[in-house]
Amino acid sequence: MASPAGHRRATVLRQAAALLLALLSCCCCFRGSGARSASSSPASPKVPAVIVFGDSTVDTGNNNGIGTILKSDFPPYGRDMAGGPRPTGRFCNGRLPPDFISEALGLPPLVPAYLDPAYGIQDFARGVCFASAGTGLDNKTAGVLSVIPLWKEVEYFKEYQRRLRRHAGRAAARRIVSDALYVVSIGTNDFLENYFLLVTGRFAEFTAAEFEDFLVAEAERFLAEIHRLGARRVTFAGLSPIGCLPLERTLNSLRGGCIEEYNQVARDYNDKLLAMFRRLTASRPSLKVAYINVYQNMLDLITNPSTLGLENVEEGCCATGKVEMSYLCNDKNPLTCEDAGKYFFWDSFHPTEKVNQFFAKKTLDLCYEQLL
Ligand SMILES: *[C@@H]1O[C@H](CO)[C@@H](O)[C@H](O)[C@H]1NC(C)=O
Repeated sequence: MASPAGHRRATVLRQAAALLLALLSCCCCFRGSGARSASSSPASPKVPAVIVFGDSTVDTGNNNGIGTILKSDFPPYGRDMAGGPRPTGRFCNGRLPPDFISEALGLPPLVPAYLDPAYGIQDFARGVCFASAGTGLDNKTAGVLSVIPLWKEVEYFKEYQRRLRRHAGRAAARRIVSDALYVVSIGTNDFLENYFLLVTGRFAEFTAAEFEDFLVAEAERFLAEIHRLGARRVTFAGLSPIGCLPLERTLNSLRGGCIEEYNQVARDYNDKLLAMFRRLTASRPSLKVAYINVYQNMLDLITNPSTLGLENVEEGCCATGKVEMSYLCNDKNPLTCEDAGKYFFWDSFHPTEKVNQFFAKKTLDLCYEQLL
């Protein structure tokens, strides 16, 4: 598992590390041991497996072993995991939405990262995560922090299918792939780590509207490809109000509040994404795509935080909560909050476990309505 483009950007990385670190998407991860749920299948699960693509919002630990500075496999990440603190590479104090979704469907409570050597194909047959924190729909986004590009996630998916056929046989492998629930969450980094950060040249190349079109076309290509490879039931997340992430609020501190320009771009992109899903599925009857309205889900919580018992929806729990994520969110910082359950954000970019659980519930409700 060679790291993609390991050293090319080392210089840029060093200069921009502090800022870039704050710019990725979110997740929380666990480790192999004990993650296997020996007892989680009293009834037969609703789907054979949960298969995950995307960025840090759903990466359960693939970045741990690759050459990037975008990591979270150290404390206080994972500090509120059931059974005791366990940093796994999830950008969270606990679990991520795919973990909760897996558990609710009668599958293991943690979806293992494909690159985690603690797991094997017998585990991945019931759920696997190909996501990589910091990646995006645009190939150039993954290059910014040397993480796994989306096309490479798909390459891993193909390799996974070969392994699965050897492990379970052709027919069973085909059934797992076609009946699995696919969870896709990606796009935030294309704007916050790439386009608006001006590091890749996309800003000069495209207007925001053109870049939205470009990303939606990439999303369509991706969906067509995984459908060709056997996927049938897909949940695909839209963008959140990306201008309201703590880091973006910090960048906006002169004016205060969310960066409305970014939120507008997120809404426009989401509209185009949804229209694409309708087009694509109309021409492919065997493909179902459920659009997850993360924008609305997050806005509901930010405007009514008390429904979840939240007291702070503007800053992360970790450190000052204004800029820290990855290595800047570490054990040395005395400011880290005591009770992450009162916070929407765990670090300056990523939700707490409590919020992830809420998002998972919303996704599951939609799955039962539209996919299962
Ligand atoms: C992204 O990179 C992959 C692999 O090199 C390539 O197949 C694909 O065409 C690229 N996408 C774009 C839009 O250039």
